[in-house]
Amino acid sequence: VFPLTNDLVKRKRLKAGMVGGGSGSFFGGYHRAAMRLCDRFDLVAGSFSSKPELCLEAGEALGMEPSRVYTSFADMAAAEAARTDCIDVAIIVTPNHLHFEPAKLFLEAGIPVICEKPMVNSVGEAEELRRLAESKGVFFGVTYTYTGYPMVRDARARIANGEIGTVRFAYVEYLLEWLANDEAQLSAKSSPWRADPVKAGPTGALGDIGTHAFNLLEFVTDQRCTRLNAKLTSSAPDWPLDDNDVLNLEFDGGASGLLWSSLVAPGHRNGLRFKIVGSKGTLEWRQELPETLLLGRSGRADITYRRGHSDMSPGAVIYSSLPAGCPEGYLEALAILYADFADALAAGANWRNATKIPIPGILEGIRGVVLSQKALEADATRQWVDFPTV
Ligand SMILES: NC(=O)c1ccc[n+]([C@@H]2O[C@H](COP(=O)([O-])OP(=O)(O)OC[C@H]3O[C@@H](n4cnc5c(N)ncnc54)[C@H](O)[C@@H]3O)[C@@H](O)[C@H]2O)c1
Repeated sequence: VFPLTNDLVKRKRLKAGMVGGGSGSFFGGYHRAAMRLCDRFDLVAGSFSSKPELCLEAGEALGMEPSRVYTSFADMAAAEAARTDCIDVAIIVTPNHLHFEPAKLFLEAGIPVICEKPMVNSVGEAEELRRLAESKGVFFGVTYTYTGYPMVRDARARIANGEIGTVRFAYVEYLLEWLANDEAQLSAKSSPWRADPVKAGPTGALGDIGTHAFNLLEFVTDQRCTRLNAKLTSSAPDWPLDDNDVLNLEFDGGASGLLWSSLVAPGHRNGLRFKIVGSKGTLEWRQELPETLLLGRSGRADITYRRGHSDMSPGAVIYSSLPAGCPEGYLEALAILYADFADALAAGANWRNATKIPIPGILEGIRGVVLSQKALEADATRQWVDFPTV
């Protein structure tokens, strides 16, 4: 209980190293803030940038021992693996095309990995990492941040308990205005790798945010996509990838689904929302109002469930840290995911059984990569395509 505020439980601390996240990076600081909030990790090593001076600057700012600040991730993997006090996990927060190589090097050295999404840019790379992680028996986590929200976990538990009956339809939208206007275009230019298909990967909106949305649907419904159809479009000037995607989905539990991801939706800041429609009711959650979960029931009053109340699902209330009314949000969600990762890493070889809910691992990472490949295939052929069992 209270994973982020109960610091009077003795737990194993873990030594972490970070790749990426130097000065000017968008997401690296959020990872560090989430790690601090969950209070289970000590960041002791890093290769924070491709620029040596930025690596050293970050290491100094973070108070690191200079010998553990590396100017290349290859040096970091080799040197850490040779130490008796080697890091327990390498955290990869680099641009998408720079996930595979460091992940491979750390896995080869037997060092567990926490990697950003999309895990890698091709299915071949994804499968190679899977083979390595399996042969070494080491943990590989993927930071699908939104699975850390207590009310997302509450939705999952309620669906599993049959509260909305048989799941018939699973809808998710993830809408941003990031590329929708001139100002936004400028911010895209400040992150040039995102507009380079060689670096960002084969899809734009789908790889960047659709992967989160897809993972969220599979997580809350506990159903796996088996087939999909897709229409990927692009309208932002000078943007070489898809920026608006609509996918029809079919799931192994019998549900149909719809996924809409867009980077060109004015008025949407981080507009992630799902609706799961069952035979008895509909559950709806919105990322910008993450403390509540709405249950719509036909012919009866709707219910607004709230994080921290005693009627949260027992399987989800354990992820709530503050009392109801004291808001938790995005950083807490990432920190809860980090607390899960810490439990898994502390469990060593038994990491698969270390958490009460399935945490996003290499299989979920691969499914995100397959999503892009299959959506492109469906879009090109205007046909439904099978989604392989991963
Ligand atoms: N989980 C989420 O919700 C979420 C949110 C934002 C970004 N992301 C993902 O995080 C990753 C990073 O995104 P970002 O927006 O922070 O990118 P960014 O461009 O802002 O930062 C990337 C960082 O990687 C560093 N880097 C580049 N090459 C390097 C190298 N060879 N060695 C070491 N460091 C190197 C850069 O110096 C920079 O510090 C992406 O994969 C992105 O998809 C995930």
